[in-house]
Amino acid sequence: MPHSTAHNQPAPAPSSVGAATLKIDDRTMELPIVEGTESERAIDISKLRQETGHITVDPAYGNTGSCNSAITFIDGEKGILRYRGVPIEQLAERSTFIETAWLLIYGQFPTRKQLSSFSGLLTTHQMLHEGLRNHFDGFPNTAHPMAILSSMINAVSCYHQDVMDMEDDETFESAAARLLSKTRTIAAAAYKASIGRPIIYPRPDLNYCQNFLHMMFSLPYSEHEPNPDVVDALQLFLILHADHEQNCSTSTVRMVGSSGANLFASCSAGVCALWGPLHGGANVAVIQMLHEIHDQKITMKEYVQRVKKREVKLMGFGHRVYKNYDPRAKILKGAADKVLATLKVHDPMLDLARELEETALEDSYFKDRNLYPNVDFYSGIILRAMGIPVNMFTVMFAIGRMPGWIAHWREQWLDTASRIARPRQVYTGQTLRDYVPMDQRG
Ligand code: ACO
Repeated sequence: MPHSTAHNQPAPAPSSVGAATLKIDDRTMELPIVEGTESERAIDISKLRQETGHITVDPAYGNTGSCNSAITFIDGEKGILRYRGVPIEQLAERSTFIETAWLLIYGQFPTRKQLSSFSGLLTTHQMLHEGLRNHFDGFPNTAHPMAILSSMINAVSCYHQDVMDMEDDETFESAAARLLSKTRTIAAAAYKASIGRPIIYPRPDLNYCQNFLHMMFSLPYSEHEPNPDVVDALQLFLILHADHEQNCSTSTVRMVGSSGANLFASCSAGVCALWGPLHGGANVAVIQMLHEIHDQKITMKEYVQRVKKREVKLMGFGHRVYKNYDPRAKILKGAADKVLATLKVHDPMLDLARELEETALEDSYFKDRNLYPNVDFYSGIILRAMGIPVNMFTVMFAIGRMPGWIAHWREQWLDTASRIARPRQVYTGQTLRDYVPMDQRG
């Protein structure tokens, strides 16, 4: 564990504000009620099994607070998202991805010196070890870039064993910078490998976003000069995806990290969790859905009817936490107009998306269930306009989410009271029975 400094604290414990009474048969038990800094209340059941022999059942953890965290606050009813207390709208307008990453990881705005030193570390560590480049040849060129990204992030740790055992915050910073920087290099290389083109080296004179676009679109004989509007759009996209508290992939990172697994292994697992269509993979599913509607000339009313009959899901709609408009979707919807106009791109998918949203939001099925567009509904349209291929959409999400995963891994690492995550179950299988020899089985 590192020495404690102002930037180096685990999440504070919530305040104790009362107690709830639980009655089981003829026994009562007092359960402490705790309150976070935004007045969210929770019943602390950590002593429940020890004192009553009972556990709680909460499939998909919809009512379970798995940790204390001081990184991101969401009010799903009001549509509020803040990183370290700062509204997402302000960061989207005024920050950069690397500044936001620092803020998430360390909890403070970086000084000019800290930002410049961190950016320097990212530049120092942006190359991949030459040995790692050979790994790309081992994947078939039909491999999904998410599979390559996850495997390669884990493989990076084999080449940097000096940062695996973290004793101090300096080693952590070096590991975090390597992970953040190399994830972008791996992502672009995975794309190049998937289209059978040579991998392009990063350039030390370009910033994080410019460098990604350079590695994606340059060729050995033709340098791509990133368009400043595309760089801005990428910056916005990455900031909006940088953290979202205890979602499926972040909880995965924390779960894996809770066993003492290193930062690279934990974040590689986060990439796998993000891949699914109910999570980060939804940005691909939205574009596929819009294509289907477009190509088969399905009307919006017909599509909404199919959703209501549960033949399909309206991808990019609904959220476990937001029961209001996802603030990230609101920003991306506004940005989509601007980005497409600036880049002089007309995308019929944007018109379709707006029409589909309008039709859904007027329908009682969606109103009654508080289903609104989430971050994935408009993000694919912006990525398309930037020239990012569809199979890279979820990879883009992973690049954006990396600061959040790193911040959560660190918060847990700093917490000396943290234990290995280990849920229980209600067993509903066979009770005790004997082994049946092969010749006696029917
Ligand atoms: N289309 C149609 N119906 C939906 C949708 C949807 N997109 N989302 C939820 N519903 C319905 C459910 O069928 C359920 O209806 P019921 O009560 O009549 O059975 C009700 O709304 C509540 O939904 P749940 O499935 O309980 O919501 P849950 O919190 O478990 O799931 C999820 C959230 C996975 C995001 C869901 O809304 C979904 O599948 N959306 C589409 C996929 C998507 O866009 N994922 C990206 C999420 S954002 C992110 O991960 C970055």
